[in-house]
Amino acid sequence: MIEVRDLHKSFGDLEVLRGIDFRVEAREVVCVIGPSGSGKSTLLRCINLLEQPTSGRVFVGDVEVTDDDVDIDAVRRRIGMVFQAFNLFPHLTVLRNLTIAQRRVLKRSRSEADRIARENLERVGLSEKENSYPAQLSGGQQQRVAIARALSMGPDLMLFDEPTSALDPELVGDVLAVMRTLADDGMTMLVVTHEMSFAREVADRVVFMDGGVIVEEGDPAQVIGKPRNERTRTFLRRVLDPASAPVPETVTERVEGT
Ligand SMILES: Nc1ncnc2c1ncn2[C@@H]1O[C@H](COP(=O)(O)OP(=O)(O)OP(=O)(O)O)[C@@H](O)[C@H]1O
Ligand SMILES: [Mg+2]
Repeated sequence: MIEVRDLHKSFGDLEVLRGIDFRVEAREVVCVIGPSGSGKSTLLRCINLLEQPTSGRVFVGDVEVTDDDVDIDAVRRRIGMVFQAFNLFPHLTVLRNLTIAQRRVLKRSRSEADRIARENLERVGLSEKENSYPAQLSGGQQQRVAIARALSMGPDLMLFDEPTSALDPELVGDVLAVMRTLADDGMTMLVVTHEMSFAREVADRVVFMDGGVIVEEGDPAQVIGKPRNERTRTFLRRVLDPASAPVPETVTERVEGT
């Protein structure tokens, strides 16, 4: 469903992706983990050309996204994208947030768009909120609306970029539960996340990125449970037990100075 070959991306002098090769098969769930700045979001954004790769090739299904003649709008219609920020239209009800792109981009009739929107609201457990406005919902509910909106476009695959990291801890579970049902229904999913228990339980494969390369990838129990690479081990120690992270030197200096 996704194939990335020797992908490089630079911003000016900064080489953010330094030769990425990987594949996501249809119906597979792949979680990408790694430290801040390692290039996870950039990788996702190169897949639907929100960023133009510097070199390398990207395929979505049988279409080469990096081909100069690609119909990128057609490719993007097949890809649902869910970000950390929900990006809902504040002046539209939940139902209208789910129907606007269906009507404008897919040219669906109002009744068909409404029917599909309601099906997807039910899928994320928010049928009773169709007439609410985004500001009347919790962050977790807004993120579930964003997922339902992406699903209403009938995507072949879904990309998630830290979909729960802006949420209060008690709201994370509902969003992960929705993602779990999507995975169970056979959706192809590429998920950047710091939720290690989700990655361990739901992912078919975990990819660990650091410094713009894939350092390690494989079965979740192996990568998270018995990482082979020292960089993976250091990262996981920090994520699983933030209090154990070494104190940055600047902090030590300040403490000693007082
Ligand atoms: N549009 C841009 N212009 C310049 N530099 C950028 C741009 N987008 C990203 N970068 C830089 O590329 C590097 C990788 O960023 P990216 O957002 O892909 O990291 P990430 O792994 O998603 O990190 P995080 O976990 O914090 O979201 C960072 O150093 C970032 O500052
Ligand atoms: Mg990111």
